[in-house]
Amino acid sequence: MLFWELCVGFLTLAIVATAENPYRFFEWNVTYGDIYPLGVRQQGILINGQFPGPNIYSVTNDNLIINVHNSLSEPFLLSWNGIQQRRNSFEDGVYGTTCPIPPGKNFTYILQVKDQIGSFYYFPSLAFHKAAGGFGGIRILSRPQIPVPFPPPADDFTVLIGDWYKTNHTKLRAILDRGHKLPSPDGILINGRGANGITFTVDQGKTYRFRISNVGLENSLNFRIQGHKMKLVEVEGTHTVQTTYSSLDVHVGQSYSVLVTMDQPAQDFFIVVSSRFTTKVLTATAILHYRNSKSKPTGPLPGGPTNQIDWSLKQARSIRTNLTASGPRPNPQGSYHYGLINITKTIRLQSSAGQVNGKQRYAVNSVSFKPADTPLKLADYYKIDGVFRVGSIPEQPTGGNIYLDTSVMGADYRTFIEIVFENKENIVQSWHLDGYAFWVVGMDGGKWTPASRTQYNLRDAVSRSTTQVYPKSWTAIYIALDNVGMWNLRTEYWARQYLGQQFYLRVYTTSQSVRDEYPIPKNALLCGRAKGRRTRPV
Ligand SMILES: *[C@@H]1O[C@H](CO)[C@@H](O)[C@H](O)[C@H]1NC(C)=O
Ligand SMILES: *[C@@H]1O[C@H](CO)[C@@H](O)[C@H](O)[C@H]1NC(C)=O
Ligand SMILES: *[C@@H]1O[C@H](CO)[C@@H](O)[C@H](O)[C@H]1NC(C)=O
Ligand SMILES: *[C@@H]1O[C@H](CO)[C@@H](O)[C@H](O)[C@H]1NC(C)=O
Ligand SMILES: *[C@@H]1O[C@H](CO)[C@@H](O)[C@H](O)[C@H]1NC(C)=O
Repeated sequence: MLFWELCVGFLTLAIVATAENPYRFFEWNVTYGDIYPLGVRQQGILINGQFPGPNIYSVTNDNLIINVHNSLSEPFLLSWNGIQQRRNSFEDGVYGTTCPIPPGKNFTYILQVKDQIGSFYYFPSLAFHKAAGGFGGIRILSRPQIPVPFPPPADDFTVLIGDWYKTNHTKLRAILDRGHKLPSPDGILINGRGANGITFTVDQGKTYRFRISNVGLENSLNFRIQGHKMKLVEVEGTHTVQTTYSSLDVHVGQSYSVLVTMDQPAQDFFIVVSSRFTTKVLTATAILHYRNSKSKPTGPLPGGPTNQIDWSLKQARSIRTNLTASGPRPNPQGSYHYGLINITKTIRLQSSAGQVNGKQRYAVNSVSFKPADTPLKLADYYKIDGVFRVGSIPEQPTGGNIYLDTSVMGADYRTFIEIVFENKENIVQSWHLDGYAFWVVGMDGGKWTPASRTQYNLRDAVSRSTTQVYPKSWTAIYIALDNVGMWNLRTEYWARQYLGQQFYLRVYTTSQSVRDEYPIPKNALLCGRAKGRRTRPV
């Protein structure tokens, strides 16, 4: 049977009731404000006065109506890492899909967290704003009637970790705009604070959920809690086989949920986050405080794992889907055998770094992304010629010199493709695709060949939206292209993303049906050559 028949068959069974899904409203004011995360004053981006921004709490299928007022002096957009925006790439909030919110103006995002559960985050997508804050957690809880494969935790914490510069984002951006590389980050933050700035208070004997997202700019990070084990339960919307780890590698852009039981004597413990695979190890700590504790945490800090890539690779491979656990719907994996579907196409993506006209650039298959004057999705919708060309990035590495283009790769709706990320460089890469979750079927050192497929996990790989690629290694993913739109495929290494290591995957159908894609939102901002168009026919 074909994949699409499997899906359609399953959908018919699964749709039971179609009561209108709840709406949740948010009014957000985005401002500059002084923050002191590493002890020095710098200009941060706050949401409703907060750094990091407020968490979004939601339940599968909720509609989120988020009115974002831009009180900065620059255009601004938020994007929603891991939120699939089904049929609705207009709301994705990246340069290629959505016009920036002008200073002093507002825009209301209308999202639905359709058929999703799990831990994600939002972040500012333009102008290197991410180095100044503006990010926050998103959690999507299961609907009450859907079983969750573990008892409700005593509390559920969002833990946003990331590397950080003491320098203003405007200064960092100016370095990149002049064509230079950035220096290494200065430190690590846990929920916006450096050393021991954050305390998580717990009761002895109880079990807590920690949702850990790496919202940083480039470093892979290791997360661990002194004296405690962590049971991994969820990765970017997939309930995992519940394996116990004493520390966890979280690459840039990734999210993980762990359960931790407070089974130690009543005292305080260190939570440690440290940079991975860096010559100088950056470390931040937070406090795990037992409510009945009478003593401060004592050193030494628990050490991180060995710097050998193999340790991390082995851990990554041990992360698998619990095939009997529910997802957003009851036990969907049972009818969803991604490993049995034939691949329609293999795309190989190789990243590179180099100079163009004496300026630092980063590329995918030799193309370094250059913005156009109009968001690509709007150009597509209004059929405005000359903004981008489908096929402006090759589907295989060419090994050629880096050049600039507004790179868009075409892809057919309802095909099932394989993407192989190839990393010839000496850094850990992290790749994210908007609009989708994909199966991470394999990763290994060396060069990928078709024979590498024999080692794929075609049974219980995790479905997620961000995957790492180790140095001089490859990672292979499978994607069911079931979401029409213009979708950003990017590195999460933010200086590289800013200097061109990204492109758009245009998943296309000739169908005009709202079953396949929603029309442009009524309140869509129009800019560039889309200015003055109508968002609805008269
Ligand atoms: C946003 O905050 C700024 C600074 O506090 C204030 O001047 C402005 O009126 C606020 N805007 C909205 C829409 O609340
Ligand atoms: C941030 O940097 C810019 C440019 O260097 C400067 O104009 C601004 O005053 C700085 N802001 C703060 C709060 O230091
Ligand atoms: C801006 O905010 C107002 C309410 O404060 C709202 O009525 C309007 O729809 C918003 N504009 C957009 C483009 O979403
Ligand atoms: C998988 O999920 C099932 C169903 O909730 C649960 O009973 C089981 O313990 C889980 N297994 C593992 C290995 O995590
Ligand atoms: C996949 O391709 C093989 C060989 O072409 C064919 O026999 C098989 O039926 C196909 N499987 C599916 C699920 O379409």
